[in-house]
Amino acid sequence: MQKGVFLYKGVTMDMFELDEVNELVEKLTKWSEAYYAGNPIVSDPVYDAAEIRLRELDSKNSYFNRVGSNKVKESTFEKVQHKELMLSLNKAYSLKELTSWVKPNFGYGIAMPKMDGFAISLTYKFIDYEYVLIRAVTRGESDKGEDVTENIKQISDIPHIIHCTKVDENFIDEFEVRGEVYMRHSVFETLDIKAENCRNIAPGSVRQKNPLVTKSRRLNYFAYNLLFTKHDTMSDRLECLKNLGFQVVNYIKVDLNNEESVQNAYNSYVEWRTIIDFDIDGVVFMIDDITIIEELGNTSHHPRGAIAWKFEAEEGETTFLEYQWQVSRTGLVNPVGIYEGIRLDGATLTNATLHNLSIVKKMNIGVGDKIIVSRRGGVIPQIERVERRISDRGADIPIHCPVCGSELVTCISDKGIETLRCVSIDCSAQVLTRILHFVSVMEIMDVGESIIEKMINANFINDSADLFNITKDNLLTLEGIKDKSAERTLKNIELARKKSLGKFLAALGIKGLGSSVSETVASHFETLDRVLNAQANDFEAIPGIASITAGNIYDGLKANCKLIETLRKNIEVIGIEPKVIGGVLSGKSFLITGTLSQPRSYFENLVEKNGGALKSSVSKTLDYLLVGDNPGGKLDKAKKSGVKIILEEEFMSMINN
Ligand code: IVH
Repeated sequence: MQKGVFLYKGVTMDMFELDEVNELVEKLTKWSEAYYAGNPIVSDPVYDAAEIRLRELDSKNSYFNRVGSNKVKESTFEKVQHKELMLSLNKAYSLKELTSWVKPNFGYGIAMPKMDGFAISLTYKFIDYEYVLIRAVTRGESDKGEDVTENIKQISDIPHIIHCTKVDENFIDEFEVRGEVYMRHSVFETLDIKAENCRNIAPGSVRQKNPLVTKSRRLNYFAYNLLFTKHDTMSDRLECLKNLGFQVVNYIKVDLNNEESVQNAYNSYVEWRTIIDFDIDGVVFMIDDITIIEELGNTSHHPRGAIAWKFEAEEGETTFLEYQWQVSRTGLVNPVGIYEGIRLDGATLTNATLHNLSIVKKMNIGVGDKIIVSRRGGVIPQIERVERRISDRGADIPIHCPVCGSELVTCISDKGIETLRCVSIDCSAQVLTRILHFVSVMEIMDVGESIIEKMINANFINDSADLFNITKDNLLTLEGIKDKSAERTLKNIELARKKSLGKFLAALGIKGLGSSVSETVASHFETLDRVLNAQANDFEAIPGIASITAGNIYDGLKANCKLIETLRKNIEVIGIEPKVIGGVLSGKSFLITGTLSQPRSYFENLVEKNGGALKSSVSKTLDYLLVGDNPGGKLDKAKKSGVKIILEEEFMSMINN
């Protein structure tokens, strides 16, 4: 199924959309199962892009009710009920989206980095005048997760015991810390785990059977929330977490009702992101006042008092789906890579040009391979590289033109860049080849491939008839065309405004109508109108034209009837003068030599018009030699052969009698 052809929002879902919805649900289910099992197979932007697309197509899809449930696969970790749900965050992708979340009563808030790791809640219990880490649980299905305490104890940022001296009157018997396990880039680089990337490694590392493996991963932990204490604000909670000895996310106070304050906070994390040693994927904005947060409560998916302004990923991973080979008007066959939709910089991307054959061969992407996509200059989608090879086939390079089926040609430029070209005159996708053919048959001098290509690319011409509308101003806008060459081009095009029927037919580039068949067809029908009115069997009746060719000619003329009409308006097509039977010169043959008062063709016409025949040399069967000044050798030969010699006046009196 071709991507990118779906109808937009608001329009009744069609068959293709239904297909897409089913595909999306299938993918999202697979990805979220893997994610909740601790082995994510796609990155957040890829997941988000698919979810956004599904929401666009079918916001009420039952998939959204299922998210977060039935996802924990069989595991060896014990399931634990969360005392408070571990929800998701609402998402925004722009200042506008963020400010539409803010209500006038929100007041001050905090902004903090959204860590791109693995959420873990830590429960500390008051035992023997100390707070002891008794449980570490994954987010799991948001209401219950997996007990990964032993593994979490291997993370050096996480205190096992907190001395009471650090605790103030806000504490009760048991409290909970929430935060994110992550791996630093510098640690990732020292590990020999090629198959994964930094972002996806935390969950797998936490869900190890052997805690020593978790330890060897040298993970870190950032705390971003503290539950079941009596603090009034989020900022107090975070300050308290610092006192307890936690690494706390770097937070900033913001005036949520002031757009500039919000934007500045976002900008500073965008900048900070470039220098830190770990992944963050957005900025979390949260109301500072906990009473307001609690009053607002939660949806089934997220708390209303917080939102994540997600970074538009600069690049993201997705799956390569297929190649599309697009035939350009100049015959170039351009490769386009189609991949699973991915949201980058505010748009969902589904395809990118792969430029030329050399790049296709170099990247050698196979269907199903995991690729990295970016937006070059923030705009143009670009396939950067293959991240993981899944297919063992690599690139699939076509042999035949996807439009007309004819065999493709590989061209190599001066710089060694390989391109694929369709050079078939019959290919409906391409214009250059057909115009080149026209120009060559019509004997339009000095109008070659380069200038035609430029005219096509500048949209001055789209078919051969457009050549007759080209202006000097048009030509002067083309690279490398100066005054003189523009004039010469125009003059040469002018000369083509009068052509014989045979040449005109051959110039159309119709299958079967080559130059020799065109001459035969022209002599047979004599005028363009008669050619155009002929049926397939009329062509078949011409000696030497096979029935397949006749069919091709007939079909080709019909298919090109509009072009022919336009060409006729610009070109005087000279038909064949019918042979005169029974004229005054009937049965007599003529040869013309020397200079006469008119061009030789004038007298040749008169001979034919009056039923006479023309000969090309002197022989005994020649009846008359018409001589002008400076006749040359033919005169002597004629005398010797006894051929009758006549002057122009005698000839004229023969036909005027
Ligand atoms: S606040 C109700 N702050 O993002 C959730 N979450 O998409 C309140 N996350 O699983 C969470 N960094 O683990 C918050 N600075 C941060 C965060 C953060 C990462 C994670 C969190 C949650 C996910 C939600």
